[in-house]
Amino acid sequence: MPFLNPSETRTDLSGPAATLLYDDWYPALRTRKLRLGKLSKAMLLDIPLVLGRLNDGRVFAMRDSCPHRGIPLSVGRFDGRHVTCRYHGWEFEPCGGQCQAIPSLGSRDHLDPTRILATAYPCEERDGHAWVFIPSPGAGRKVGTAERTDWGLKAVPELAKFGGRYRTAFLTADLPCNVDHGIIGLMDPAHGPFVHHAWWWRTRGSIREKTKRFEPISEGFRMSAHAPSGNSAPYKLLGVYGQPVETTIDFVLPNRRTEVIRCGDKWFSSLTTVTPMTATTCRIDVVAAWNVFYYVPLVTPIARFFGAKFVRQDQLTMIQQAEGLRHNPSLMLIDDADKPAKWYFALKQARLEASATGAQPKHPLDGPVELHWRS
Ligand code: FES
Ligand SMILES: [Fe+2]
Repeated sequence: MPFLNPSETRTDLSGPAATLLYDDWYPALRTRKLRLGKLSKAMLLDIPLVLGRLNDGRVFAMRDSCPHRGIPLSVGRFDGRHVTCRYHGWEFEPCGGQCQAIPSLGSRDHLDPTRILATAYPCEERDGHAWVFIPSPGAGRKVGTAERTDWGLKAVPELAKFGGRYRTAFLTADLPCNVDHGIIGLMDPAHGPFVHHAWWWRTRGSIREKTKRFEPISEGFRMSAHAPSGNSAPYKLLGVYGQPVETTIDFVLPNRRTEVIRCGDKWFSSLTTVTPMTATTCRIDVVAAWNVFYYVPLVTPIARFFGAKFVRQDQLTMIQQAEGLRHNPSLMLIDDADKPAKWYFALKQARLEASATGAQPKHPLDGPVELHWRS
């Protein structure tokens, strides 16, 4: 799957910090970057990581810091089985982080290297992402010799697919704002006609009144199954199948938006995540799979081209927004267009409170609601 990255623009802009949500899976990097014997770096929630792929195919993620004197393990060596620190040659098993050799130990030493543990994180490959589970600071290790399920972790996120034959695409862009701005930008219906106006998507003149029904789901909310906007050209194309088109959009903490469009046995599915790399910056990743127009030539490159353009429009807007946010202005959320953003903040707050008190998180929606806006 070709790697398409619209984020050529690097920027050192960043806005105010966001509170981070731990105890969840985040995509660290694309696994195609993990070549045999190579170490790759990533940053998640202000934690520097080193990732790699073992000879047996498994992927791993460790804190990019040697427990001896803190040099990044990523500057060390990796032979497909062990990560060896560049400074004094300590050797680590990368999935559990256990130290297996300390070359300086002599015959009189009693130190058992295997009692030394580097920090390692649960790491799983899905849809070309290396997902890493980041526990709360101080929560203890979530890896070891036991199987992952023994640690009581939630399921690894995965893109929904309906059948074995489909095409895929991936897009990414760095956003110079904190994760909250990235997420509320993602679920914001009102920017579409302004940021994404184009003949092939929608124009300002096509703005019309919308009514959307939402329902609560675990740690998130769902825009209930509905016929997609009549004013978006890509959806109109699905009309060629002569079947009713239905789309469902979910948002689930900490950062996932999934969209499924179904039209008879044809489908399109996407998983978009906004991942905090640091408290002040984030990255948007989109993975998509579809079997619509499977046999039509050039559909995949065309979809990638327009998808990249779309993500790029959001990215440019957020670069401009970051300029404004530097001065910490007071902001507002209005009804109903910003209601999903309000729910996001309420869900996040509920999760933070629940993890502090051990109580069940209180959901901001107590039943289905209708929202109205123009877009
Ligand atoms: S700093 Fe890594 S082995 Fe000493
Ligand atoms: Fe957008």
